[in-house]
Amino acid sequence: MIIDFQTAVDLIKKGDVVAFPTETVYGLGADANNILAIKKTYELKGRPSDNPLIVHVSSVSQAEKITFNLPDSFYKLANCYWPGPLTVIVNKAPILPDIVTGGLPTVAVRMPNHPLALKLINQTGPLTAPSANKSGKPSPTKPEHLQHDYGDKLPILDGGPTTIGLESTILDLTAEHPEILRPGAISHAELSNVLGVEIAPFKENKLEDSEPIKSPGTKYTHYKPNAEVKWIKKIPKSLEINALYVVHSQNKWPAAKNLISYEGNFTALAKDLYDIFRSADHQEYGKIYIEELHEQHTDTMIPALLNRISKACHG
Ligand code: TXA
Ligand code: MG
Repeated sequence: MIIDFQTAVDLIKKGDVVAFPTETVYGLGADANNILAIKKTYELKGRPSDNPLIVHVSSVSQAEKITFNLPDSFYKLANCYWPGPLTVIVNKAPILPDIVTGGLPTVAVRMPNHPLALKLINQTGPLTAPSANKSGKPSPTKPEHLQHDYGDKLPILDGGPTTIGLESTILDLTAEHPEILRPGAISHAELSNVLGVEIAPFKENKLEDSEPIKSPGTKYTHYKPNAEVKWIKKIPKSLEINALYVVHSQNKWPAAKNLISYEGNFTALAKDLYDIFRSADHQEYGKIYIEELHEQHTDTMIPALLNRISKACHG
């Protein structure tokens, strides 16, 4: 159900959950100080309660109230990238309910770069917001995705399609060396530059089984449409009619309704990816073939695309 701005503010203040737009994907917003509202978020999303939430703020001073002992690196990054698609993991203030962080002593914080989100948080105070998908499914990047997943009951603040399309970069500032836990639109090179220390690029599957999981969300299945997602090296001359093809190189492709070409525009591919996953399901394609991405593709969106598509492939 699409609601107006004032209704969104009122509902959140009453302890309801409201979907709102950010520049990355839609979030399921709740008052970060309201334990019952946060419980509702976990239930709605079908999310295990050991998987903590990101707290969204509209100012650095809001971030200071829910955290503790913020390092200089936090201020450098906030100065450069907030509002923007960067989430930082820092020490949690005791005042923030434990349910927000699934009992962890640290908290994920970000300031989204979206006028509606910022205006909303200004009026409500900090909001917890996981990506608004049902657990395991692709994140919503359009209000229609939310209506499809939740029916007409979920209140939605409509901001149209999101601009980035993939979730924020998560950087852990509590580790000895800042570490990327999830790749997003802000790259390791940009972060290294601002902090003046080398931050390693995100590595897929680098976690050994015996290592504690740093970002609890990474152990769950993610981003999966019903269609089977597969990387493909070469696009065949004759396309399978039951499959949707997503290509990014600048070759001469056959004109076909089941082939979507991005010609090196990885920003556009990132923006569309989850919508492609979802519309493939609507159109009853059984498979989605995606032209292989390689580390030599230097675009800043490559690590995030590789991460989300690989998880959609084998979960
Ligand atoms: O772009 C985004 O970040 C979107 C929009 C709505 O802001 N939000 C989002 O939230 O992607 P979510 O809940 O789907 O993903 C947050 C990830 C999860 O994998 C969670 O495990 C991790 O952040 N996380 C949250 N708190 C953490 C903490 N204290 N330490 C490590 N990882 C944490
Ligand atoms: Mg998510």
